[in-house]
Amino acid sequence: MNSPIYSSLTLSSGISVKNRLVKAAMEENMATSQQLPSTELIRLYSQWAAGGVGMLITGNVMVDHLAMTGPGGVALEADTDLSAFRTWAQAAKHGDTKVIMQINHPGRQVFKNMGGKVFSPSDIPLDMGKHSHMFPKPTPMSQDDIQDVINRFTITAQRAQQAGFDGVEIHAAHGYLLSQFLSPLTNKRDDRWGGSIENRTRILIEIVKQIKANVEQGFIISIKLNSADFQRGGFDIDDAEQVVKMLAPYNLDFIEVSGGSYEAPAMQGRSADERTLAREAYFLTFASQIAKSATMPIMVTGGVKRLAVAEQALAENIQLVGMGTALAMRPDLPNKWQTQPDYVAPLPVVNWKDKTLSGLATMSVVKQQLKRLGKGKAPNTSPSALCCLIKDQLNKAKLTKRYRKQHQHELS
Ligand SMILES: Cc1cc2nc3c(=O)[nH]c(=O)nc-3n(C[C@H](O)[C@H](O)[C@H](O)COP(=O)(O)O)c2cc1C
Repeated sequence: MNSPIYSSLTLSSGISVKNRLVKAAMEENMATSQQLPSTELIRLYSQWAAGGVGMLITGNVMVDHLAMTGPGGVALEADTDLSAFRTWAQAAKHGDTKVIMQINHPGRQVFKNMGGKVFSPSDIPLDMGKHSHMFPKPTPMSQDDIQDVINRFTITAQRAQQAGFDGVEIHAAHGYLLSQFLSPLTNKRDDRWGGSIENRTRILIEIVKQIKANVEQGFIISIKLNSADFQRGGFDIDDAEQVVKMLAPYNLDFIEVSGGSYEAPAMQGRSADERTLAREAYFLTFASQIAKSATMPIMVTGGVKRLAVAEQALAENIQLVGMGTALAMRPDLPNKWQTQPDYVAPLPVVNWKDKTLSGLATMSVVKQQLKRLGKGKAPNTSPSALCCLIKDQLNKAKLTKRYRKQHQHELS
C-alpha cells in the first residue's frame, strides 16, 4: 500500500510513529473501583494495537481522583500503584504501536451526582438548557488551586513515563478545565490567569514548562486544543492560532485540533457552523488554517471514516489523523484499509429531536463497542441506540454509587 498515510513520522521527541493514523482519546469507563486500569481496559488496547494504528491516545486519565469526568474513569496521582498502568502501556505497545496518555481535569464539567471538587477559573455554571441541573455551579479557583492543578498535571505526566507510556497529551479542549481557562465565556478573571489571550493561556504554558522540566528526554508532549468552542463570544479560531503561536518555543510533538464542549458538542459533528458540518472531517478547514503557521505537526480528529478523507487531510498540511468512533466500530481499520482502501467505517448516526439525548446515545453506542472489545468480542455494528443509552445510564448509575462509596470520606 503506497498511501502517504502509511509513511512513518518522527516527532520532535525523537519518537517515530509507524503511520499517520491515531486512535483519538475515548473515555472508556472501565476502571476498577480504585480508578485503576482493569483487565478489560488492557485487553481493549491490545485489540487496537493489533489493528495496525500508529499511535494510541488513551481515554482521558484524571490528575485528581476527586475531580472526575465520570465514575468509571482512571486516575493517576503521586501515590497511585503503577503495576496495572505498566501492563496497560505494554499491551498498547504491541507491534511497535506508540501509546500516549491523555491527562485531564474536568473543572466545571463534573456531574452533580459524582460529588468532589467542582471548580473553574470563574463561577460560571454550565448552560445545558433543561439539562443544566445535572451540573453544580463551580467555585472560582484560588492561586493555590491553580498551582495544585499545575503540579498534578506534572506528576501524572512523570508517572505515565515511569509506567512506560511514550508520552502525554494535555487535554485543553472540549470545555474541560484548561479549555475553561482559554475561553472568555468561562474565564472572567482579572488577575494574571484571565483577560488577555496571553493570560488565559498561562496555565497551559505553565503545565507544558513544568512537564518538560520534570520528564526524561524522548517523551512525547502534545496538546488537544479546540479550534473554536462554537459559542458566540467564545474561544475562536483567531484565539486558537494565537495559542499555537505562543506554544511554538516549547517544541511540542504535535497539537491535536478538535472543537466544542458539553454545551456545544461540535466534536460530535453537531454544530451550527457550516465550516464544520460541510466536511466529513469536521475540523479540517480550521486545522489546515492552523497548520499553515504552526511550527509543530498538527493532528485533526472528528468524523473520519474513509481513507480518502485521511489522505485529503495530509494533502492539507496535516501530519496525523485521529479517529475515535471509526476505530471503536472497526478496531482493525488501519489494517483493513491496506487491503481494501475503499472501505467505509460504519459510524453510528442518532438523530433524535433532543440533541443532548442524541449525543448521549451516540456516545453510548460507541461505549458499548469498547466494552465488547474489552471482553474479547467483536463490535456490534448495528446496535439499538435506545438500548445502548439505557444500558449506559444504568451502568453509570451503578459506577457512580460505587465511586461515592469508595471515596465517601473524601467527597463533599
Ligand atoms: C465514547 C467517547 C468518549 C470520548 N472521550 C474523550 C476523551 O476522553 N478525551 C477526548 O479528548 N475526547 C474524547 N472523545 C472525543 C474524541 O476523541 C473525538 O474528538 C470525537 O469523537 C470526534 O472524533 P470521531 O468522529 O473520530 O469519533 C470521546 C468520544 C467518544 C465517542
